[in-house]
Amino acid sequence: MSSLTVKNLKKSFGSTQVLKGIDLSIEAGQFLTLVGPSGCGKSTLLNIIAGLETPSTGEVWIGDRNVNRLGPKDRDIAMVFQNYALYPNMNVRKNISFGLEMRKVPKGEQDRIIDRVARMLQIEPLLDRKPAQLSGGQRQRVAMGRALARDPKLFLFDEPLSNLDAKLRVNMRAEIKELHQRLGTTIVYVTHDQIEAMTLGDRIAVLHNGEVQQFGSPSDIYENPANRFVAGFIGSPSMNFIPCEVTGSPVSGYGLTMVSEGREFVLKTGADLQSRIGKTVILGIRPEQITHVMASHLEEPFTCAATCPVHLCEPTGPDTLVTTSLNQTKVLARVRPDAAGLLGQDMELMFDLSKAVFFDPDTGSRLGLPLDRAA
Ligand SMILES: Nc1ncnc2c1ncn2[C@@H]1O[C@H](COP(=O)(O)OP(=O)(O)OP(=O)(O)O)[C@@H](O)[C@H]1O
Ligand SMILES: [Mg+2]
Repeated sequence: MSSLTVKNLKKSFGSTQVLKGIDLSIEAGQFLTLVGPSGCGKSTLLNIIAGLETPSTGEVWIGDRNVNRLGPKDRDIAMVFQNYALYPNMNVRKNISFGLEMRKVPKGEQDRIIDRVARMLQIEPLLDRKPAQLSGGQRQRVAMGRALARDPKLFLFDEPLSNLDAKLRVNMRAEIKELHQRLGTTIVYVTHDQIEAMTLGDRIAVLHNGEVQQFGSPSDIYENPANRFVAGFIGSPSMNFIPCEVTGSPVSGYGLTMVSEGREFVLKTGADLQSRIGKTVILGIRPEQITHVMASHLEEPFTCAATCPVHLCEPTGPDTLVTTSLNQTKVLARVRPDAAGLLGQDMELMFDLSKAVFFDPDTGSRLGLPLDRAA
């Protein structure tokens, strides 16, 4: 297992710059997920790490070795592609062993490896089948098996679950996570699915427009998004973004003016919004921070209740999503099913601003950071 470092990596195709200076570093045994919308450069970055593309500038280090000049075969990596890329004419056994044969691994050793991998992925009954005789999930396992037959320094996965149906995805996601925990391998995993990124990664890099918007642990990215893009991209349902005016002073605390159906109320925040008094900011508040009223919580300093109209109720099972509106913006609350109000009527909602975040309405950059985080 090896660490991986990418330094100031840039890549242009013709006049289009696809990667604009990527810096990332993970330790040996860590699981890095690269997440971002379609076209943001995830596969390009992965392919550069694999040696399948050359960067315009920048460096790739695997362990303590700069691999820029090494071809894919010499980098000691194993890659699983989105389309699995299995050899259609070879059976599963042969698909897994082919790379071993190419590297002249002795036959007995090959058989031992195939047994181990097949057991691990529970594909023993499939070893004599051809890829066309397998389901999508089984093909996916074979592709994983082919990678796992090696003992590389680094595993690279490019959206390996994207062809699977929802249930199988969730199962395979758990298997990959378990596999990582068991084997302690270094993995870089590309996905556009933010839930996959959150559940799998020790570290997440959120990419957008060829730049790393934020690089951190899942909880850091969820609770402390660097900007509005990250805040909106990570989390489902998405964070609410409510434009509101800042009132108050450092002495009385800062307030955010809210209007709902002609009723006005003020939410209090502990964030430092001194420079924005009298101006508009974007309040970022996740649906789970807007709930039904729990009296015991109302004592908290940045929690308050207000009457809001119920525009829509969506039961999800464990909780119900209630749509209301504040400052002419659609706002989603997550409430206990039996506490959800009735469509077209009002309900009391409780706002917990202790984890709320703030953004500049023009640039989307983070505002009002707690003092220990301010740059
Ligand atoms: N060989 C190429 N020549 C020209 N442009 C390319 C090439 N490969 C990728 N691009 C462009 O670079 C950008 C990033 O592509 P990339 O495949 O890395 O995106 P991605 O984040 O993996 O997207 P997706 O989630 O859809 O797989 C896209 O705009 C794409 O059109
Ligand atoms: Mg891609």
